[in-house]
Amino acid sequence: MGILTTNFTVFLNRIKDANRRKKTMKIRKSIHKDYLKNVSKFVGVVLVVLSIFSCKHHEEEYHKVTDKIKELSKDYHGTSITSNKFLEEMNLMEISEGGHTFLIPERKSQIKSYACTECHTDDLNKIKGKDAKKGHWNITLKHANEETMNCLTCHNGDAMDDLKSLTGKKIDFNNSYNLCSQCHTKQFEDWKGGAHGKKIASWAPPRASMTCVNCHNPHSPSFESRWPAKYNTQKIQERK
Ligand code: HEC
Ligand code: HEC
Ligand code: HEC
Ligand code: HEC
Repeated sequence: MGILTTNFTVFLNRIKDANRRKKTMKIRKSIHKDYLKNVSKFVGVVLVVLSIFSCKHHEEEYHKVTDKIKELSKDYHGTSITSNKFLEEMNLMEISEGGHTFLIPERKSQIKSYACTECHTDDLNKIKGKDAKKGHWNITLKHANEETMNCLTCHNGDAMDDLKSLTGKKIDFNNSYNLCSQCHTKQFEDWKGGAHGKKIASWAPPRASMTCVNCHNPHSPSFESRWPAKYNTQKIQERK
């Protein structure tokens, strides 16, 4: 009998133990769940903070690309090398246009029939009145159309040695870019900034740039586009 009761109490105790273990396992599991929750919350917060900080650096600190360039070039105080060696022999002149100061080639000495008044002693309008012969046979105007443009749109009938603006103001032949800029504002803006046209010599200062008439003939300014500048499917077929 004694042995039976002790066996029974051992059995009961085992059951109790098992229950206790189950409970602790449950508690452990719930602790583990809470832990996971907290970890993911923490990671979330860290990510948000990181993204805020990195945003601030890339997007908010600089409102414009130009701001970023300014900021990053704060410690740049120019270079010690110059282009002077390459520019020495050239006949350049300095201009200041809309906050940009740079050199361009002088023009008047390059124009064959300058000064115009060597021949044109009379007002051009008077010449026109007579049964005028055609001078400058080598010049044909291929710029806009006849309704828009004739010789006197740009040349000054009664002061031949200068160009003239659309409102009749004098423009020096050396500053003929001011003539073009009246109608080609976009290219002029680009040119001032250095995005249209070409630099002379190297990248190192001083900046020297070609002027409009170095590349464009004012009387026939457009360039013919050449194959394969435009993809010519006709030619491709012919070749097959
Ligand atoms: C070597 C002499 C000479 C020079 C220099 C000269 N011209 Fe002329 N030009 C003429 C002659 C000749 C005519 C024809 C009209 C005439 O009978 O006088 C003419 C006519 C013109 C006409 C009238 C349009 C035409 O072709 O019928 C324009 C515009 C003109 N010249 C602009 C100029 C400008 C601008 C310059 C300076 C960049 C210049 N010329 C320099 C001789 C000259
Ligand atoms: C869109 C403006 C414009 C028009 C229109 C124009 N010219 Fe000119 N012309 C110029 C400019 C700018 C120059 C100076 C070019 C340079 O610097 O090489 C020039 C230069 C000249 C020269 C000197 C060329 C040389 O190399 O000796 C003559 C001559 C001349 N023009 C005559 C004429 C005649 C004639 C007409 C009409 C048929 C005419 N131009 C129409 C802008 C114009
Ligand atoms: C009075 C206005 C006026 C002036 C001044 C003028 N242009 Fe033009 N230009 C025009 C017009 C209009 C056209 C024709 C545009 C078109 O066909 O889309 C044109 C066409 C051109 C083209 C060809 C564009 C193309 O798409 O093929 C060039 C390059 C050009 N001009 C350069 C010049 C230069 C360089 C000067 C100064 C010497 C000048 N222009 C002065 C009005 C002007
Ligand atoms: C270094 C040479 C160079 C100089 C300097 C230059 N251009 Fe051009 N320009 C070009 C070339 C090349 C093209 C492209 C032609 C093409 O695509 O067919 C062009 C195109 C143009 C066109 C036609 C529209 C376009 O964008 O295709 C205009 C208008 C023009 N230039 C005006 C000007 C004016 C105004 C100036 C002076 C403020 C100037 N250019 C200075 C070389 C030059």
